[in-house]
Amino acid sequence: MPFLKTSTLVTIERHIAEEAAFHPEATGEFSRLLRDFTLALRILARDVRRAGLNDVLGMTDGMNVHGERVKRLDIHANEVIYRAMDHGGHLCVMASEESDGLMSIPDDYRKGKYVLVFDPLDGSSNIDVNVSIGTIFSIYKRLDETATTPGTLADVLQPGYKQVAAGYAMYGSSTQLVYTSGNGVDVFTFDPTIGEFLLTFEKIRIPKRGRIYSVNSGNAHKWPQGVRDYVSNLLRPSEDGLRPYSLRYVGTMVADIHRTLHYGGIFMYPSDSSSPTGKLRLVYEVNPMAFIVEQAGGRATDGRQRVLDIQPDSLHQRVPCFIGSEDDVRDAEAALVAAGDF
Ligand code: AHG
Ligand code: MN
Ligand code: MN
Repeated sequence: MPFLKTSTLVTIERHIAEEAAFHPEATGEFSRLLRDFTLALRILARDVRRAGLNDVLGMTDGMNVHGERVKRLDIHANEVIYRAMDHGGHLCVMASEESDGLMSIPDDYRKGKYVLVFDPLDGSSNIDVNVSIGTIFSIYKRLDETATTPGTLADVLQPGYKQVAAGYAMYGSSTQLVYTSGNGVDVFTFDPTIGEFLLTFEKIRIPKRGRIYSVNSGNAHKWPQGVRDYVSNLLRPSEDGLRPYSLRYVGTMVADIHRTLHYGGIFMYPSDSSSPTGKLRLVYEVNPMAFIVEQAGGRATDGRQRVLDIQPDSLHQRVPCFIGSEDDVRDAEAALVAAGDF
């Protein structure tokens, strides 16, 4: 995947303005919304880079709605994004992994026509050991675009195919923002010396098939039979040399999906006997990643149906997911059917 020859420095603001042509109904409000969001990402890129020095590592005493111990950086990231986005007048409501319910826009501020849902910090278990972590987000239009009242749960619980834009930031050796607004997937790399996100990859296309699978094999004893059969087959050497596949698993969804997007293959978080709907959350983890991977030419299902077609029932609903190269995801689905898991 060649780097773009960035003779013309394309900042994300310029890119969004140029993309506006694809969304004639999107007034400058959408561009200003994303500009505010990239401010939050710049702050988080700084804070993540300095985490070891800023004393924002470690656990809080709190548990989140999922019963998970919350890291201080999770809370910090949640607050940074909320404060960056609560006053711009573009949003009518927000929701996040770290908020039990809706995150309302303060009374003093105008209610806009967009909805923001996000995972402020993805990969929390990797924070303290300096392994890549990220932020995941999705943007929707509210159901009644003419309304000026606070947004509702119905505005948040929309099926993924209604997303206007989605993306993730990955705080790794550099900070990258991977973004789509339905016109392909573009990658921006943050240049801290000028404080800008610059276009570095354009219109990423995921390979139709890869040679890597990404799953937490520690759960293998609990997987449906079809997942076990599928993984066993990936490890069986084939005449054409396409198998065995390699296992790569970071444990940060953003990092595992980012690699899958570039190299192909499959990322899975299946259901298992102790988590019948899997672990990853539909609204602010799986849907945005599904939108991005589909826009890059890949496939994202719950093992049976397209993730983006699922009507969410609740904010923190979990869903099994099989995301990546089309041929690999279809092979996994076929193994589930063959084993009678569906
Ligand atoms: P978060 O840190 O936002 O809770 O997300 C963690 C998720 C996801 O990033 C990753 O793919 C998955 O948890 C890893 O789960 P396991 O440790 O169970 O494999
Ligand atoms: Mn997450
Ligand atoms: Mn998180």
